Amino acid sequence: MTKALAISTLAVVCGMLYWLFATPGVADVDVPNGSESIDRGRYLVDAGGCVSCHAGTEHPESLSGGLALEHEFGTFYVSNITPDAATGIGNWKAEDFLRALKHGRSPGGGFYYPAFPYPSYGGLTDQDVLDIAAYLMSLPAVEFRIPQAEVPFWLPRWTIAFWNRLANLSSSALPEETDARIARGAYLAHTLGHCGECHTPRNAVGIPDFEREFAGATLGESEADAIDAAALQKWTQEDFAFFLMLGAKPDGEFVGGEMEQVIEHNTSKLTLADRQALAAFFKR
Ligand code: HEC
Ligand code: HEC
Repeated sequence: MTKALAISTLAVVCGMLYWLFATPGVADVDVPNGSESIDRGRYLVDAGGCVSCHAGTEHPESLSGGLALEHEFGTFYVSNITPDAATGIGNWKAEDFLRALKHGRSPGGGFYYPAFPYPSYGGLTDQDVLDIAAYLMSLPAVEFRIPQAEVPFWLPRWTIAFWNRLANLSSSALPEETDARIARGAYLAHTLGHCGECHTPRNAVGIPDFEREFAGATLGESEADAIDAAALQKWTQEDFAFFLMLGAKPDGEFVGGEMEQVIEHNTSKLTLADRQALAAFFKR
């Protein structure tokens, strides 16, 4: 190999490594602490369904985590997100929240596993992330250490660098919505509601297939139904908004499975206007 070729190969390799592993830049701001931010944050935490996963296994009234998420790629334990300095997020700054929720990166630069739906939360506005942070920081600290993730030897955390890049490359830009209500519904469905995490089919390495967004998917033992336009033909917007409040379908049946938690902890706590916005988006 000539010297020039060696140098350019090295440059390409360094560029690739940087592209894969560089810490994402985020805004240089502080976590707000006013009551308005805390109240907004409480609402956003409900809208984000954080409680479904983060409710403590030992301390159920807190977000101290511990739930084991059994997955075909391993068992992932949900983190303690109370402000305990040793076992939770007590020492976090605004940039740590922005990197975790929007980029799936830990304060030390490490990678979270996508069992934490950061690929969806990545679309959140900075303001929403900061208000969520304000609310979490206002909660009582609970000391509880969660177990390490149990994964096969070929899946150490750094391999997620590749997954993140593939997932980004395959996520088609979502269409711009001009109607304000539909746009709000799209934002809730794609980010906080993370509806696609369960309802969009995935490829062999677990990357969602956005060409078939909301076309239904298998979750371990259960099935998350298709909720795309074709599947919802018989639903009216009113049916859909009502379903999000109580889990009752137009045929009078109640929904089951993991969707019960989504209704209980997430969509039933939304304002009527936000449920109607989701309905306007899904039935547009
Ligand atoms: C589907 C389950 C699930 C939902 C819903 C969920 N999380 Fe998590 N979260 C996890 C898992 C699992 C981890 C740990 C990932 C890992 O080990 O890499 C995690 C980790 C985190 C971390 C990193 C904590 C640390 O100590 O490093 C933060 C912060 C966080 N979640 C915040 C939230 C917020 C805020 C919401 C709601 C907007 C939320 N999560 C919703 C499963 C979930
Ligand atoms: C944690 C996974 C999960 C998330 C997140 C989730 N769903 Fe579901 N959903 C399911 C499962 C599983 C079912 C099927 C439940 C059953 O068997 O009764 C379902 C069923 C439904 C149904 C009933 C469809 C039918 O034809 O019976 C609708 C509508 C629905 N979900 C909408 C949503 C919306 C809107 C969101 C986002 C706000 C969402 N889901 C988020 C797992 C999820």
